[in-house]
Amino acid sequence: MRVVHTVAEMVSAQREAARPLGLVPTMGALHDGHLSLVRRARGESATVVASIFVNPTQFGPQEDLRAYPRTLERDLALLEKGGADLVFTPQQEDMYPSGFDTWVEVGRLAHRLEGESRPGHFRGVATVVAKLFNIVRPERAYFGQKDAQQVQVIRQLNADLNLGVQVVVAPTVREPDGLAMSSRNVFLSPQERQAAPVLHRSLSLAERMHSQKERNAANIKEAMGRLLQTEPLARLEYVSIATPETLEEMEVIQGPALVSLAVRMGKTRLIDNILLGAQGP
Ligand code: PAJ
Repeated sequence: MRVVHTVAEMVSAQREAARPLGLVPTMGALHDGHLSLVRRARGESATVVASIFVNPTQFGPQEDLRAYPRTLERDLALLEKGGADLVFTPQQEDMYPSGFDTWVEVGRLAHRLEGESRPGHFRGVATVVAKLFNIVRPERAYFGQKDAQQVQVIRQLNADLNLGVQVVVAPTVREPDGLAMSSRNVFLSPQERQAAPVLHRSLSLAERMHSQKERNAANIKEAMGRLLQTEPLARLEYVSIATPETLEEMEVIQGPALVSLAVRMGKTRLIDNILLGAQGP
């Protein structure tokens, strides 16, 4: 496995790499969710590139950019074991040199849900992903269903700007108690960690109600809200039942629906989602 620290080196490495090339973009602090993407890429690519870059432009001014966990040595060992061929870990000044002034702004899709709670977040994500696609030129790029809205934003960006990358989505990897793996879970206090599976429990409740033929979205959201309220450490930010592609809210569930929620546990913000009535990715 080769570790590449500059954009210029990455461009020349990619030009010589065997194809097809699969890219797994990450911000590091790797866990089994990230590694499931690497393994998936390994199975279908001649070259697997993982990027590790804590992208400053997707963090809001009040967010945890400085505190974001950085565990590079450990990440590299995990990527080596997971079968990556190349790791791209650029410096901030290389990705955003002084004078940088071009942004990728995805429309409606990026302004709902997470976009409402985190203004500018998806502008940062879309911009860095467009840059990574242009630097690495992958045939395929791998993303987790854990960040369902991010997947849709990237699909839109990829289609609208004709980037020509095949976007592959892999299922959410969870802890045994249902909590979705996330680099931010390390911020949870022991009490908050104990409380955190309430997100998954409320998504499971939605799934159960849907399988019992409940189709009124408000009824399901209300029941989820009530369940979340039984956990005093959890503060619900939003719960949504929406069309998976457009993220428009549904009143009556017809066809596939994305149930997603954001919850604050102390200082930590957790998101999770589940797809109803669809063959998951
Ligand atoms: P990061 O949060 O590090 O996540 C990298 C990739 O891992 C994303 O595609 C994310 O959806 C996926 N992932 C995270 N937790 C997962 C889980 N429990 N199961 C399955 N997949 C999971 O998402 C980002 O970084 C950034 O926004 C990035 C796309 C790298 C752009 O900066």
